[in-house]
Amino acid sequence: MLHSFDLPISDFNKTSFTPVDLSFEKSNTLYATHSLHAYAAKFPPQLAQYGLKTYTSPGDVVLDPMAGSGTTLVEARLQGLAAFGYDIDPVACLIAQTKCHLIQDAEIETAYQEIAALFQADLKLVENGNAVEELAQRATLPEFANRDYWFSPPVATSLALLGYHIQHTPMSQPLRNFFWLAFSSLILAKNSVANARDIIHSRHHFRQHVQVPDVAAKFTQRVGKMRKQMADFNQRCQDKDLGAVSIQVAQKDARSLPLADDSVDFVLTSPPYATALNYPRAHFLAVPWMGEVLGTNLNDYKANAPNYIGSEQGRFNREFAIRPELASLSQTCAILQQLAGQSLRHAHLIQRYFIDMQQVLGEISRVLKSGKYVMLVVCPSHIRKVDVPTQRILVELGREVGLDLIVQHERFIDKSKRVLPYIQGAFGNRMNLEFVLVFKKQ
Ligand SMILES: C[S@@+](CC[C@H](N)C(=O)[O-])C[C@H]1O[C@@H](n2cnc3c(N)ncnc32)[C@H](O)[C@@H]1O
Repeated sequence: MLHSFDLPISDFNKTSFTPVDLSFEKSNTLYATHSLHAYAAKFPPQLAQYGLKTYTSPGDVVLDPMAGSGTTLVEARLQGLAAFGYDIDPVACLIAQTKCHLIQDAEIETAYQEIAALFQADLKLVENGNAVEELAQRATLPEFANRDYWFSPPVATSLALLGYHIQHTPMSQPLRNFFWLAFSSLILAKNSVANARDIIHSRHHFRQHVQVPDVAAKFTQRVGKMRKQMADFNQRCQDKDLGAVSIQVAQKDARSLPLADDSVDFVLTSPPYATALNYPRAHFLAVPWMGEVLGTNLNDYKANAPNYIGSEQGRFNREFAIRPELASLSQTCAILQQLAGQSLRHAHLIQRYFIDMQQVLGEISRVLKSGKYVMLVVCPSHIRKVDVPTQRILVELGREVGLDLIVQHERFIDKSKRVLPYIQGAFGNRMNLEFVLVFKKQ
């Protein structure tokens, strides 16, 4: 358990501070819908629980502007608090939305039986080599580069048929989303049906399956697990007698939030790493199969990748100069100059990251009510031999927009539970430690 107060702290009485252990090393993080789908760099639900319990009151409105897979939102739902969750990534939004929406098990069972019967009937037709024309429409494969490299033909046909029946069997949209999530879990998983490994770590490597993966069996298994999780979520909400709670998820950019000024009571979020976690690359094998539910195609999805905060894409000038927006921030400028001495490209990338985070913090401050709190879960980076203490930079940036740091916690990341960037070496051991910063709006 670690705590530090080495940053300027205002409005905080150290003597009344009771240390808390925010590492949650032995805690069960798999309850309710928290493990409905894998996602890189989730934080533990207990951390969100702690933030919500400490900094909200009944009736408050919560915001996570970079909600990822929706950990904050599920916990808000479990505490009966209304919440808004935004993320730039459509896969993240689908996961977050589905995790927060209560669905009764009987509904899942009925729809599952229908999908499974239609899917199995089509697989029989394929097996017997019959009805080629009849199948042609349902088994149309999406076109994308290297499709046959990443998916063997039988797996591709099965995915196309399964996707067709998920999309065309009559059911409510939340239920359909639930099955699309089961579908996505077949691809974006440690044990993917694609010829790939290390998928959720964002850098794919080819893997030849010894046996052709059985898509139908895996789908059944996945739905079974997800049903148990959804039933647990239902039970927990029922036990607390929570009733209806509004959780709204939308695909939006955190640098421009669709919320009114002074409309939110608490913000809890974990920004992306400064570099090295490439969500579009991690998700690209699932996107082309799920165009209808995600509302995008692979080309548009990839074209949006430079807009992800922390992206490593982009063309920059040969020269490096500190941008005027950051010029008055001493620590920020010092880090950027140090980086520029090692790699101009990285100095440009990190400068863009800081400017993006400056905009995000500006938006957070705009929508937050005065006197209310923001909790940021932040991981420092080590880039080109330069320590980038993102936590310190965010404190500097926050101060500029009226957010004053009041508490800083340090926590160890349980590596067995949190999916971290694949390129561990570039970050050294620092990736084991992250910071929980609490700010108060003036
Ligand atoms: C560290 S993850 C959040 C994980 C989340 N706390 C969870 O438990 O799943 C950071 C998220 O920021 C999102 N993101 C990146 N750029 C964004 C932007 N411009 N606007 C909104 N979200 C963005 C990424 O897609 C990613 O889901």
